[in-house]
Amino acid sequence: MTRIIVDTDAGVDDALAIIYAAHSPELLLEMITTVSGNVPVEEVTQNALLLKRLLSLDLDVKSGASLPLKRQLVTAPEVHGGDGLGGYRIGNNIHFKDWRTDDAAEKIVESARRLGRKLKIVSIGPMTNLAYAVANDGDAMRKIGGIVQMGGVFHGYGNTTTFTEFNMYVDPDAADFVLKSGVKLDFVPLDLTEKIFMPRNILTSLLNSTRKMSGELKTLVTQSLSYYMAYHRHTDGLDGCFLHDPIAVAAVVNPAWFKFVDAFVSVETSGILTSGMTLADLRTGKGRSNSRIATGIDARLFLDDFARKLFGRTISARVMKKDCMRDRFGPEFSNALQ
Ligand code: BDR
Ligand code: CA
Repeated sequence: MTRIIVDTDAGVDDALAIIYAAHSPELLLEMITTVSGNVPVEEVTQNALLLKRLLSLDLDVKSGASLPLKRQLVTAPEVHGGDGLGGYRIGNNIHFKDWRTDDAAEKIVESARRLGRKLKIVSIGPMTNLAYAVANDGDAMRKIGGIVQMGGVFHGYGNTTTFTEFNMYVDPDAADFVLKSGVKLDFVPLDLTEKIFMPRNILTSLLNSTRKMSGELKTLVTQSLSYYMAYHRHTDGLDGCFLHDPIAVAAVVNPAWFKFVDAFVSVETSGILTSGMTLADLRTGKGRSNSRIATGIDARLFLDDFARKLFGRTISARVMKKDCMRDRFGPEFSNALQ
């Protein structure tokens, strides 16, 4: 069993990732830490506290950075709703008092010191809290089992600017700092997560037939996904959604489902057009690699595990192959990093 901290900017796909992690016996969810990203940290923390309640999780939720290290915060309410859950929490007037702890980075460091290599961090938002944790105690952070970061795009187009993925775009300085620190980092980038797509009809059928998910959690997932999918339909013409953050959790549930390559990854921090762009040098050799990049995934095994754990259902292999596996940029890029 791997002990994990989820550092999140929850977020609709973050919520799915947290539910997936909570239902994975391979993982022991130690703590949820929150960071501004999709929505400001107060909204993120409210969402984490709501998920903690609905999933009956016995853990701490610790709030973290409200702003990126050096720049103004960029959020994505058009993708996730103003509350980060497609309007579900605000619509139902759910608010937790005393949400603010402001100690996410310190608590991450405490866990790193206590658990060492037994701890992995699944980072599904901007890397601001992680940068503060590394600045606080780099030695302890270098000794953990590693960080899995959903973020970056290495051989395709971004989802925020032409060449940038959202988590890297929001706080490239934090990503740069962590990359230069010597901590073990695995990237689960956008060009990988966009190879898997969840069509609306499949999600609707899973939600309609589930005997596992019920009550308020089911309503939350249904409403937040409806908002998230409406965004994709409107902007990309895609009727369904991506599972960016759950795929990062999957890289800890079972790393053997993934193909990784060693790389020296850099993040642009000052380009006018390219700030937040991630670049990979694959000429690995002694001293040349600071990360691994996930370039391939067994989509069938991931989707099967995800559907079983969230909904208690399966998706047929034929439907998966026909409707869920895609390569947004065409075959010419599909094996570029493999
Ligand atoms: C990432 O950005 C956020 O909008 C999602 O939650 C995910 O972590 C995808 O680029
Ligand atoms: Ca996220």
